[in-house]
Amino acid sequence: MASPHVVCIDDFRPQARRRLPRPVFDYLDGGADGEVTLRENCRIFDDITFRPRHAVALPDCNLRTRVLGFDVSFPALLAPVGYSRLMHPDGEVGAARAAGLAGTAYILSTISGHRLEDVKAASSGPVCFQLYLMGGRAASEAVIERARVAGCAALVVTIDTPVAGLRERDFRNGMKELMGGSLLDKIPFLPQIVVHPGWVASFLLDGGLSKLPNVVIPGKGPMELVDVSQALASATVTWDDLKWIRNLWPGLIVIKGVLTGDDARRAVDEGAAAVVVSNHGGRQLDGVRPSLRALPEVVAAVNGRVEILMDGGVRRGSDIVKAICLGARAVLCGRAYAYGLAAAGQAGVTRALEILQADVERTLRLLGCPSIAALDRSYVDMPASWQ
Ligand code: GLV
Repeated sequence: MASPHVVCIDDFRPQARRRLPRPVFDYLDGGADGEVTLRENCRIFDDITFRPRHAVALPDCNLRTRVLGFDVSFPALLAPVGYSRLMHPDGEVGAARAAGLAGTAYILSTISGHRLEDVKAASSGPVCFQLYLMGGRAASEAVIERARVAGCAALVVTIDTPVAGLRERDFRNGMKELMGGSLLDKIPFLPQIVVHPGWVASFLLDGGLSKLPNVVIPGKGPMELVDVSQALASATVTWDDLKWIRNLWPGLIVIKGVLTGDDARRAVDEGAAAVVVSNHGGRQLDGVRPSLRALPEVVAAVNGRVEILMDGGVRRGSDIVKAICLGARAVLCGRAYAYGLAAAGQAGVTRALEILQADVERTLRLLGCPSIAALDRSYVDMPASWQ
């Protein structure tokens, strides 16, 4: 995968676009409504500029950090990405294995095509499970127990999905019909699939994914594949549900989808071990602040009581370094590895992680900073309006 065509993460995007049928690419690439937050998540990193310390010799540069009690080789975890197995047959298993080989953690989405036990077994690193309350409480109880028995390192509860955001591209591409409709419903949308025979062949050889093996409804079996708007329709989590989840899951709970100091304080009061500052990659409420912009408020509100992670718009190692300078313990990368997965399976994820890790090291050296632990706000300039 050391292709001269893949120098940075953005180089994977056109490759993913070529390989995937449009509905699958747009599911990965797209956001809600006018995609304002989706774009801003990336652009906002440009508002932060570096303050390097030059003429500093750094024989060693330590990228390691501790997140949720585990050691990671650099401060980037793999975010939960729904339907990864539609992007490539390697799917969640390939992504988790690549994460382990790179020395970092993988967070498995509830909306996944591989069994959580197989994903956990594939990785030599920590695997966390992201929970949507899909398929009813009994299905959730069952999957929480499976995650516990499999040895998942933390439960990541996403709180920003009272309904799914309107992902207009999915709507136009007929995702609902393709994922859940009758053959007749699917027919108008099939031409955009058949022009990608390579993807079609790999999808069929993989068994033609039709069920969600981690949403098992007692007495009925695994839930049929549905499009994300239907999946999330039943996935609302409230603070009351969290009490119920707490009783089922003895381990660490991470609350993902925090954008304000108030929600961050509430999450800490409810016993979260960490919060993820996240707008769901611009896929839920369009027009909310980009994640990086929300980070300082959450850092101030949490005031060191728990770890803070962030996701949204991370495409370069320098983005990771900026988020750490602003107070994040680590970032979650979603699209940044998923484009690689879509383009080239596990090897693409490995290459994406290599790029990000090398970027982080180069950025630290150019900053004259010896380690991730030494990063702080003195290495960046923030716009005055952020103070
Ligand atoms: C799933 O969580 C999605 O946002 O598509």
